[in-house]
Amino acid sequence: MSIDVIVVGLGFGADFAPIYQAHPDVGRVAVVDADPARTTAVADRLGIAVRFPSLDEALAAPGWDAVHLLTPVRFHAEQVQQVLRSGRHCASAVPMATTLEDLDALIAAQDDAQRNYMMMETAVYSREFFHALSLLESGKLGRLAYFKGDHLQNLDGFPDYWRGYPPMHYVTHALSPALALANTRVESVRCLGSSKLTPDHIGVAGEGFGTEAALFKLAGDDLVANVTMSFFQLGRSYLEGFSVYGDEGGLEWPQLEGGPMKEFKLEQLPDGRRGRPVTEADVRPPGAPELLPEALKRFADGGHGGSHPHLVHEFVSSIVENRRPRVDARTAATWTAPGICAHQSALQGGAEIQVPDYGAR
Ligand SMILES: NC(=O)c1ccc[n+]([C@@H]2O[C@H](COP(=O)([O-])OP(=O)(O)OC[C@H]3O[C@@H](n4cnc5c(N)ncnc54)[C@H](O)[C@@H]3O)[C@@H](O)[C@H]2O)c1
Repeated sequence: MSIDVIVVGLGFGADFAPIYQAHPDVGRVAVVDADPARTTAVADRLGIAVRFPSLDEALAAPGWDAVHLLTPVRFHAEQVQQVLRSGRHCASAVPMATTLEDLDALIAAQDDAQRNYMMMETAVYSREFFHALSLLESGKLGRLAYFKGDHLQNLDGFPDYWRGYPPMHYVTHALSPALALANTRVESVRCLGSSKLTPDHIGVAGEGFGTEAALFKLAGDDLVANVTMSFFQLGRSYLEGFSVYGDEGGLEWPQLEGGPMKEFKLEQLPDGRRGRPVTEADVRPPGAPELLPEALKRFADGGHGGSHPHLVHEFVSSIVENRRPRVDARTAATWTAPGICAHQSALQGGAEIQVPDYGAR
């Protein structure tokens, strides 16, 4: 079986179109962008013949099995429903949506359409995540004990629609590795906002904070994920990652992007000594190219921890194999809702907010 895919939004989307072109189970690839000059430039460069001027026109065309949306966040909820209603499978860039109502609507749309929805969460297909998973599965971490996550990125100069964006509404990169490793959901959250947005940073979302710091209580166990998100007013270079600790070992994200991760191993307590010794090692995880079709392996050196070809492969394979993708609508809501609730908590001065259970792990 071969599927035809439309890629919509050619900023970030320009990185994904060539991966679909190379996938052995993909036939035709088409592109869409609201900016005709961008569509022409990207399609010409990649040798893509079929171009549509809008999502509406793409969905009105006969054929085409799947759509990958990489449009600005405010369009995700509406466009995903539009694609699913047209009878196509839909992949969407993060976040799934920015309100709990829209998360419910997308789960209903996936179920009604009986088509695949996948949130394209880069963090859980990164080299670093594959390494954390192998440490956990081989017992090297021991029993999970604690998580940290950070996404610190200065968004000055980004398109205007980012101004005032609540940082916790983008929490999935920093939080989903913890939830995927612990195979659980967030039960409740307490979050504080730090550094009120200055007037020049306030955007459509209204007043808010440059930085938000949350403690997520995970369900079913005694675990906490401590996540800091910042988009404005923070004198710090870019950092987007997670750390995981067990009672026997840990894996820590580097302080500076590009540096090696640190792997820790707690040794036995020698007689008469205070505190167990800890072995430390630098590690640069190799990723998992063996999980990819031969034709996609060359994309595994790319950005976001080499995750892009894995995301494409999972989305395409789920359609070809007629199964739900790893990050379906319920899992996507499970990973997105905690951030929506965290921002609510920050607006209420740190009140504890219960996070809905979407029935996914
Ligand atoms: N690690 C990650 O997962 C990651 C990284 C970067 C961006 N993203 C996500 O990818 C998406 C795109 O990000 P970006 O940085 O490329 O954004 P961008 O604003 O730079 O580019 C968006 C593109 O979509 C086009 N567009 C806008 N509205 C459209 C519409 N209605 N129909 C068709 N095309 C439309 C624009 O012309 C533009 O070319 C965002 O949702 C962002 O959150 C995710």
